[in-house]
Formats: sequence, C-alpha cells, structure tokens
Amino acid sequence: MNIKKYIARFLNLPLRHKFILSFLAVICFGGIVSLFFGTRLEHRTIISLAQVKVKHDLSSAWMVYDEKLNFIKDIIRLNSSHESLQKALLGGQKDALERYLSRARKEFTLDILTLTDARGGVIVRTSNPAFTGDDQSKDPLVSRALKGETVTATQIVSREELLKEGQELADRAYMKLIPTPKAAVRSEDHEEKGMMLKGAAPVVDEKGDILGVLYGGILLNQNYDIVDRVKEIVHKGEKYKGKEVGTATVFQQDLRISTNVKNANGQRAIGTRVSKEVNDAVLQEGTSWMGKAFVVNDWYITAYDPIKDIDGKIVGMLYVGMLEKPYIDLRNNVMLTFAGLAVLCTIILLVLLYFITSTIINPIQGMVVATNKIAEGDLDHRVEIDFKDEIGQLAHSFNRMTENLKIANENLFQWAKTLEKRVEERTRELRDMQDFLVQSEKLASLGKMAAGVAHEINNPLTAILINTHLLLEKLEKRDFAYESLNLIADETMRCTQIVKGLLEFSRQTPPLKAPTDINETIDRTVQLLKNQASFQNIQIIKELDSGLPPIPLDKNKIQQVLMNFMLNASEAMPSGGILTIISQRGDDQRHVLVRFIDTGVGIPKENIPRLFDPFFTTKSTGTGLGLALSYGIVHQHQGKIEVRSELGKGSVFTISLPLADRNERSQPQGGSNA
Ligand SMILES: Nc1ncnc2c1ncn2[C@@H]1O[C@H](COP(=O)(O)OP(=O)(O)OP(=O)(O)O)[C@@H](O)[C@H]1O
Ligand SMILES: [Mg+2]
Repeated sequence: MNIKKYIARFLNLPLRHKFILSFLAVICFGGIVSLFFGTRLEHRTIISLAQVKVKHDLSSAWMVYDEKLNFIKDIIRLNSSHESLQKALLGGQKDALERYLSRARKEFTLDILTLTDARGGVIVRTSNPAFTGDDQSKDPLVSRALKGETVTATQIVSREELLKEGQELADRAYMKLIPTPKAAVRSEDHEEKGMMLKGAAPVVDEKGDILGVLYGGILLNQNYDIVDRVKEIVHKGEKYKGKEVGTATVFQQDLRISTNVKNANGQRAIGTRVSKEVNDAVLQEGTSWMGKAFVVNDWYITAYDPIKDIDGKIVGMLYVGMLEKPYIDLRNNVMLTFAGLAVLCTIILLVLLYFITSTIINPIQGMVVATNKIAEGDLDHRVEIDFKDEIGQLAHSFNRMTENLKIANENLFQWAKTLEKRVEERTRELRDMQDFLVQSEKLASLGKMAAGVAHEINNPLTAILINTHLLLEKLEKRDFAYESLNLIADETMRCTQIVKGLLEFSRQTPPLKAPTDINETIDRTVQLLKNQASFQNIQIIKELDSGLPPIPLDKNKIQQVLMNFMLNASEAMPSGGILTIISQRGDDQRHVLVRFIDTGVGIPKENIPRLFDPFFTTKSTGTGLGLALSYGIVHQHQGKIEVRSELGKGSVFTISLPLADRNERSQPQGGSNA
C-alpha cells in the first residue's frame, strides 16, 4: 500500500525531478554496489599482496637463521681441524687447548665452545673452565660427531646442561611466563630450558682416527642478533607512525625468547606466548601458518614456520610479521579517493543532467504553456523551438496544428456570419412574402367585393346620370333646380369615377410588358400633369440617368403608377414646394430605381404600415386606392416600393424595377419601409 503511494507520488512529480531522481537512484545503486565489491576486492588484493610479501620475508628470515647455523658449523669445523688443536690434544696440553679455544670463542662470539675426548668426556669448557669431565656422548650432536659427522642444529638445552656451561647462560634462559590471553594453557609459570644453535665436529689425527669432539653454539634466548638482522634485511628498520613495520621472533615452543615485537612499554615482548590457534597449527601439526594475527598489541600479517631439532622434532617457531595498519590505511586511502571521485562524478553528472533535461523539459514546458494559451482561446500563440530533434518536430507540428485550427476557426466564424446574413435575408424575404400575401389577400377579397358592388351600382348610376342630363336639357339655367341637378350630375360623375377605379382595381389584368425607356415614360407623365392647377406652385426637378437600358414594362400601367405618386406629392404640398424625380441604377446593378422626393407635410409613423391598404386615405376627397393600385402594378413587375418620410419635412417614395424579367421568381417582391 505504502509502495503504491510512493510510486503514485513519484509519478506525479514534475518531469525534471523524475529524471534526476531516476538517475540518482541508478548512480547511487551502482556506486554502492561497486564500492562494496570494490572494497572487498581491493582489500583481498592488498592483503594477499601483503601475505606474499610476508611469505617472502619468512624465507629471508630462514636465510638469516640458516646463515647463523652455517656460521657456527664453519667455525667449529675450522677450529676442530686446526693443526695446533690436534697437536695439543694429542699432547694432552690442557692449558694450551683452553687458551686457544677461549680465544676462538671470544673471537667468534660464541656462547659455548667445549672440547671432549674420543669418548665424549669434556676436556675443555671455555665458558666454565672449572667444570670438566662430564659425559656429553649422549648429546645428539656430539654422538654424531663422535661418529665422524660435522653437524649443526637447533637444540633445546636443559637447565642442568646450561648450568654446566655457566650460571650466566642458565640465567639468560630462565624466563617468567607472562600471561597471554589467547595462548594455550601451560601448567608451569616459567621456562628454564634454553634454545641453542649448536654445531659439533670431530677432531681427527693424521690417520683419520677421532681424537675428540669440538662443539659450540649460541644461546638464542634474549639474543637478538637473528631477529634484528631479519628486520634490518627485510624492512631496513622502516617505521610507520612510530611503530616498527616489520617484526621477527624466535619461539622456544610457544614462548617468545627473541623478538623485536614491542610490548606496551616499548620493551621487547620476551616471555609472552603465541596464540593457541598458531600453537595448534605449527607446534602440534607441524604446518606453516599464515594470516592476520593480533600480536602483543597490534594487528599483523604474519607467517610462522616450525623449527626442528636434529631429530626432526618441533622445538620452536620462526616468525615474521608486518604491521597491517599501513595496508589498511592504504586501502582506506584508495577507497576514500574512489569515493571522492564518485561524489565528484555524481555532481558533474547531476549538473550535466540538469542541462540535458533542460533541453528536453523546457520545450515541453513551452508546449504546456502554449496548449494552455490555446485552450484559453489565444490561437496566435506559437511554440518557439529551433531544434531539429523529435521535440522540435513536435513543436513544428503543434504550431501547424494551431495554425490550421485558427484557419478553421476563422472559416467557421465567416460561415456563422454568412449563415446569419442568409437567415436575415430569408427572414426578410419571408416577411415580405407574408406582407405581400396579406396585401394580396386583402386586395383579392376587396377586388371581388368591389367588382360585385361596382357592377350593381354602375347601372343605377348610369340611369341617374342619363336622367339628370335629360332633366338638365329641359331646364333653363335660371331654374332653381338647375344648379341642384348640375351638382347631382357632378357627384354622380364622381361616383362613376370611383366605380371605374374599383372595377379597374378588381380586374387586375396581367401586365403587357415591352422594353420601355423609363425616362421617356417619366417625361410624358410630367408633361401630362405639370399644367394642372395642383402643380402651379410646385417646382419639378428631374435627375434622370440617361444611360439606363430599356426595361420590360407595361407602359400604361407604369404611367398610372407614376401619375399616382406625382399627384400624392402635389397633394402633400398644397402651398407649393419642390418635387424631385430621380432615375438611376440600383446598387446591385440589377434594378432601376425611380425616386419621388417631395418637400410636403410628411407621413406620421403610425400611418406608414397602412399606406398601401385599399381605401386608406387622409384626404376628404380621396378614394384611398392610389397607392393600393400602384402597389399591385409594381408587384406585377417583380418590383417593390419603399417609403421614407419625416413629418413636416417631406417624403421619399422609391420604386425599384428589375432590369430583366425574372420569370423564375414566381412570387413578386413587395413591402414598405419607413
Ligand atoms: N407624398 C405624400 N405625402 C404625404 N402623404 C401622402 C403622400 N402620398 C400618400 N400619402 C398619404 O397616403 C394616403 C393614401 O394615398 P392614396 O394615394 O392611396 O389615396 P388618396 O391620395 O388619399 O386618394 P386618391 O389617390 O384616390 O386621390 C393619402 O391619403 C395620404 O395621407
Ligand atoms: Mg392618391
């Protein structure tokens, strides 16, 4: 559960942190593993190198040891074969022998030098001249020399024998055992025997008969010649932090009798003993021992070999050891350098990693910003990346995508606008259509009624008019009824005019179109009306576009329309004004516009929607059919009428007629605007 939580937390980290953490984990893991195995390997290598060296040192120690033995052998042989010694022995000149041998012992720094007769009885004992006559024939070396051999060997010498050679030697050999923690158990608390390097050689006459034996040697106890020479040869007295690097020891059994290993007081650690482990391996089993050992008060890399006497019995050990500390320090230094280098490499790697991840992450962050901006609607935002790698390609594709998105968006916007415009257009067309239908419906029903009424009224009116005229013909002008009858005749005439208008309105005959010059039609209409009384105070201005092509029109019907507009304008200007008539092409170039601009009374806003209704009039003598008729005729020509007016200032009526007959448009356009 916890691991899942940590994994989830890791996955939610920013990309850069994830990169760096992953690399760190790999580096740390690799570092720890290589440090662990490196340390072990290095430790093993250094220690095994040290062990090889110690082994080699042990060989050197043996060389020194054997050299000493050979030295003794040579001295004994040299002196035993000396002519003067033979002569003195043959002559029984004990004093001369004693003098000669004493000098030799001192000269060659031997501890003992003793001469026996042919049976092994001591004749001269240079180290203790007073004690002679004892039998040495049982001594293993002497017994062999008595048989003619020259021998040397290491030998354990009893206290009794040592005392024969002198108190001083016995004292040197005597040693209190110092308690040593790891040593094997020993019942006694002291050692009184000594260990000697001893040589023996026969003294023979000219015939080869054995006259006696000369034996001598060196007591190894507390004699440091060998160990110090080993140290000198092998380590040249080298020291490490005040301590001897190399040490050597001669053991008598497990007891240190000659050594340069120092104890805590800085004195030679004489009297201490070897560990039980080494004791078992070397003294009991007779094998060499090599390894790390705690010697007296420090760790050493050590090697032990058994020392055997002339009969092959193990009597002691030869030891060399090297202080382990320099090697451990060397190992630690190497490891420290290694660890330091690893840390340095890690830091360099992290810095590099930071820059490398930056080249990857910064562009991605740029893209994140860009996507956010685009999501907020900023389609002009672009990702700025110059690289040609995968991220650069991605950014390039991203920018292209944004561009396409912008174009698509703009198209969509344009589309929406076009659609809106089209909907508006359609709505307007529908509204016009509806208006037209309503108007047509009104006109149609009115037309039917008007036709019926006109037909019925026409005959009585005709009868009234005929009879009135008949009566008038019979009456004198001075008759009182003449005036009244004349009025009846006029009004009846007016009635017939209305009826005629109604009939015309109801008939709605289809227009007979022929290409017509609209300007000419306007001119003719003006010509017809301008002399009428209602136009006396009105100035007519014509602004006609002479470049207009002929258009398909029913000339008579259109003339009637033009006349209606001119009459309405004159009636709107009872006390005079200006009527401007303009003809021109429409903006769409597909229509001709004829415009009547008057400076009359104007039309109240609320009247405008009703202007084209039949019988809508504001005049006492008007029929209210003028505009209704005009509307019908214009629509028969697929045209339309527009009205703009300002109360008190004047009105503008515009007729729009198509340049070409548009038969495909089955429905005529129509409507009014204010
Ligand atoms: N140029 C104009 N200025 C002001 N009002 C006008 C103008 N033209 C028309 N009108 C108004 O529109 C009404 C309807 O006009 P229409 O031509 O249909 O009938 P009329 O002129 O009243 O009667 P008739 O045409 O039969 O003489 C008029 O009564 C008038 O109020
Ligand atoms: Mg009118």
